[in-house]
Amino acid sequence: MDLSSILKNLIGIIDIMIVIFTPKVFFTFTILFLAVIATIIVFIVMKKKKKKYVLGAIGIEVLLTIALFFIYFSAKDFPRVYLEKDSLYQTRDNNITLKEAAEDRGIYIGFADNMKNIEKDGYSDILGKEFNAFTPENAFKWSKLLKNGEIGNYDFTKADKYVKFAEDNNLRLRGHVLIWGKGYPSQLKEKLNKVEYKEEFLRSIMREHITKVMKHFEGQVDIWDVVNEPIDLMEARLENNIFYEVLGKEYISYAFELAHKADPNAELFMNGYIGKDPQVLLNLLQELVDEGVPIHGFGLQGHIMNKAGNVKKTEEFLKQVSDMGLKVEITELDVRLRALEEIANDDIYEAQGKYFGEVLEACLRVDNFTGITCWGVSDKNTWYNSLPPYQWMKPNDPLLFDVNLNKKPAYYHIYDVLKNDIK
Ligand code: G3I
Repeated sequence: MDLSSILKNLIGIIDIMIVIFTPKVFFTFTILFLAVIATIIVFIVMKKKKKKYVLGAIGIEVLLTIALFFIYFSAKDFPRVYLEKDSLYQTRDNNITLKEAAEDRGIYIGFADNMKNIEKDGYSDILGKEFNAFTPENAFKWSKLLKNGEIGNYDFTKADKYVKFAEDNNLRLRGHVLIWGKGYPSQLKEKLNKVEYKEEFLRSIMREHITKVMKHFEGQVDIWDVVNEPIDLMEARLENNIFYEVLGKEYISYAFELAHKADPNAELFMNGYIGKDPQVLLNLLQELVDEGVPIHGFGLQGHIMNKAGNVKKTEEFLKQVSDMGLKVEITELDVRLRALEEIANDDIYEAQGKYFGEVLEACLRVDNFTGITCWGVSDKNTWYNSLPPYQWMKPNDPLLFDVNLNKKPAYYHIYDVLKNDIK
């Protein structure tokens, strides 16, 4: 590795850390870290006599770092004003449902989850009543469909339970996901490293996977995320993942062709985030459309992790995608409560509700907008709760129902926007 690529990687890592920890936290810890290093250097070069003072300085710096660490990466308490007796939310009609409001608008309102959570916390009755679309959070991922992680050795038992659940509750079922550069069986890399003709090998593995899975669920899964997250997170380019490395960007069109062949009636989506420069994704989608690749829509994920983004920009992006003749959906919406800490006044749950409402309002102004899915149902079961550092920085509470399955302001803001005749 030469110096320039080491520097590039370092800048990439710093970029990621700034996004994850926010600039304020990142720079505070960087300054403290540099101070400790500088003091250690002083300690090494200075004369013996005064060393104890420098040792004391190092001790103070280390203690300060530990204290700040606990301040930044620990749980906080925010009042749940919406549960108070005199809150307007306590007077709302109990019989409203998001599903009824969404169906009046002709769109899907969906949720993602794992059956384990639904069964453990017993909220299956809410799901069929409130939603009309369902994305299995993990069960349809490539490695989850394999027996002992063995490529080609499929076991659909668990995934079939999701199909039954969707059928029993009249939910549109979204297959998530077929080809994903960040999520594939570990055996794929091992096998690929060993074979001589990598391109042929990878094509045959993709063909087998897409065909087997889509044929198994033909007529049961209505819509598929065929390719997930093809864009690089840190640079304005396509992601250089295992598929891209071997097949170049053609892996994307190839996956869609295979999917269309396997189930010509299924709706085929690309799913992902926008990335550094929206133009990269827009160019990719336009190219696929111009080449006549069977792609029907783009799903924008929408995980609001650290800072609430500019909704107007999201709307502009979705409009550009819609103008290509593609459908657009929000597929993985969750808004971490603490991403709103800087803009919320005294009621952060209300600020979160408003943000949910603004996102939906913006989407409803887009012609080919067909649905919105939240990445979870109850705040108890959100992926943030097992993801460092967010698992320590509670409450994450990014969803429409709280840990006790009470409807949150976010629920009502979504409902009200659906009911309001905007456009
Ligand atoms: O089920 C095992 C459990 O038995 C084990 O004890 C535990 C130990 O870590 O792991 C559990 O599996 C975890 C699984 O979530 C179930 O919670 C996996 O380690 C963990 O990697 C997996 O993370 C999922 C992640 O995708 C990777 O597949 C998250 O739940 C899921 O929310 C997340 O979803 C992705 C979308 O697919 C694509 N877009 C981004 C989104 C969020 O990262």
